[in-house]
Amino acid sequence: MPRKIIIDTDMGVDDALALIFAAKLPEVQIDAVTTVSGNVHVDQATENALKILDVLGKKNVLVGRGAAKPLARSHVHSQEIHGRNGLGDSGLPEPQLRTVYDDGVGLLIQRVLAARKGEVTLVTIGPLTNVAQAFTREPRLADRLDRVVIMGGAYGLTRYGRGGNVTSEAEYNIYEDPEAAEIVFHSNARITAVGLDVTMNPSAALTRQHIDHLASKGTVVSDVIRKVTANMVSRWGLVYLHDPIAIAAAVDKTLLRTEKHMVDIDVTEKGIGRTTIIRRDESSSATGHEIDIAVNIDAKRFIDMFLEAVASS
Ligand code: RIB
Ligand code: CA
Repeated sequence: MPRKIIIDTDMGVDDALALIFAAKLPEVQIDAVTTVSGNVHVDQATENALKILDVLGKKNVLVGRGAAKPLARSHVHSQEIHGRNGLGDSGLPEPQLRTVYDDGVGLLIQRVLAARKGEVTLVTIGPLTNVAQAFTREPRLADRLDRVVIMGGAYGLTRYGRGGNVTSEAEYNIYEDPEAAEIVFHSNARITAVGLDVTMNPSAALTRQHIDHLASKGTVVSDVIRKVTANMVSRWGLVYLHDPIAIAAAVDKTLLRTEKHMVDIDVTEKGIGRTTIIRRDESSSATGHEIDIAVNIDAKRFIDMFLEAVASS
């Protein structure tokens, strides 16, 4: 029985790769995609999701437009990384007409409540604005989910996680909406956090050689992958697969080693978006909800899984 997932995304380059990866995995059934402002504005993110779903021929995946801005701050995009359109400024065809639910948060709530308890895994690969709103609007939601797999944070648990990627300390998805992250991390949801600690491991990144290997397949999908990654590959020689690793973590827990920790989310101006492990020791009266944090990835097995899936017909 495939794992039913809902993907909440800000539809940048690695989000597009994550959507392709999830759609191609036989173990996965994408029930819905909800979009949120992050790498690009939510309207652009929604258009990008429709474009990629069209390429994949996924006409039955429900799409809901979510939050246009963070809970308590203005939107800060990352077009300098992902391109003005979020897809590496690739010229993918305009999306075909399909229904888009205007209340993406409402769609998320409705789909989870319509499923059996524990049937749905929520994979978040953008800022957590939609999820925080959903948990606030529907307090039953967190416990109804099997798990929330969150691409976000930098926890200092490996050398890759000892710094941020948007400030010296903060990872982008948490930085963009720390108030939302605080609500989600302190909910009663079962959380697996996939942070820079594993996603910045270069052995788990997509290289020029990988993309050339895929392009040799001559499929529509491999051509789309080549187009959306071209700018990043020319600038950095590789594409960090932050979001596809979160998809993999939702499908095969054995790919990652995790540790249980409580986490503090910094919402102050000085350290905004910093994610700090709270060491539970004798003196601290820290109370709160431990989450599973990824501390290692079987990079070769992940890359092989990714390449095999996206190359499949
Ligand atoms: O820090 C990496 C995350 O921020 C990824 O989800 C990427 O798409 C951006 O949203
Ligand atoms: Ca993303």
